[in-house]
Amino acid sequence: MLGEVLHVFRRRPRLRSFVDCTLGFAAGHSSAVIEMHRELEVYVGLDVDPVAHEKGRARIEGLLKGSEGLKAYTHLRNFKYIKSVLAGIDEDLLKEGVDGVLMDLGMSSMQVDRSERGFSVLGEGPLDMRMNPQASLKAEDILNSWPEDEVGRILREYGEESNWRSLQRKIVQARADGGLRSTSELVKLIRSSSTGFGGRQGWIKTATRVFQALRIAVNDELQTLEDALYACFDSLSSGGRLAVISFHSLEDRIVKKTFLDIIGNGDENGNFENFKGWNKDETDVGEELWSKQRVEGKHGIVLTKRPITPSEEEEKLNCRCRSAKLRVIQKV
Ligand SMILES: C[S@@+](CC[C@H](N)C(=O)[O-])C[C@H]1O[C@@H](n2cnc3c(N)ncnc32)[C@H](O)[C@@H]1O
Repeated sequence: MLGEVLHVFRRRPRLRSFVDCTLGFAAGHSSAVIEMHRELEVYVGLDVDPVAHEKGRARIEGLLKGSEGLKAYTHLRNFKYIKSVLAGIDEDLLKEGVDGVLMDLGMSSMQVDRSERGFSVLGEGPLDMRMNPQASLKAEDILNSWPEDEVGRILREYGEESNWRSLQRKIVQARADGGLRSTSELVKLIRSSSTGFGGRQGWIKTATRVFQALRIAVNDELQTLEDALYACFDSLSSGGRLAVISFHSLEDRIVKKTFLDIIGNGDENGNFENFKGWNKDETDVGEELWSKQRVEGKHGIVLTKRPITPSEEEEKLNCRCRSAKLRVIQKV
């Protein structure tokens, strides 16, 4: 959703400072923003994965040759620490705030393709799934030693898996035989519990949900996202924008609900329709893509009442983006 993201930040009169919370291996969004905004004075890129950080940093350094006025920093840090990263660069940067922040959640295809990380349903690897290899909790710890009820809760809440009871039972039974040690052992267990319906597609869908559930738990992704949304909004300048791309409904629900809470007096269920700040007749936003999509509050404006989704062309080119949803908030 590169075009849509660029649109979000192009509408600012000047983008002097920008933070990409999810730099990524290819630094795709960062590179495009830096190239488009020659007026940029400060750029900060964060990634929690050392390989992504290293590769992304090299891409950014390559771009800097043509932009003398730009101070660029990349940090190997979790985005929930955005405020301490900014304060560490310059206390005034945090006090004045940054003009743009981007979060492009989830994993890059390069992380999935490295089967030694354990993210891939189809690759053979250890049950790891840590975004940050320094963290102590791995997927195998959850599968082989967490209480049975907790294993079930993770499958139910983070995987939204209807067959969670049977999977929970089988995972715990596997402990008697030494536990699960590899992604292929987990996939074999999932295949054996999948009812005959749906063939290969059936068990792959279940396995994808189970892997998602484990990854969310290993990396504490939902709490981290919620904490980070507040921290990112706090880090914005007046008029600054935070854009978030999410890839599954659990993340999107958190973004939607937290944005409403941030702008002030929102509906606690994240329900925009009953929200009194919703202004259907908004006309003063020029050519903004989302001119009738604003929800105004005391502290900010949600610019996307409904999330922006990828165009058909983009979906054809990149199937990973099919479930992507972009939401944007602006500080008053
Ligand atoms: C989808 S990729 C980003 C791709 C990037 N926007 C681009 O255009 O190339 C997501 C990246 O976010 C990183 N990431 C995930 N959770 C993070 C967190 N809590 N803090 C910092 N980075 C995180 C991942 O390591 C991964 O490199």
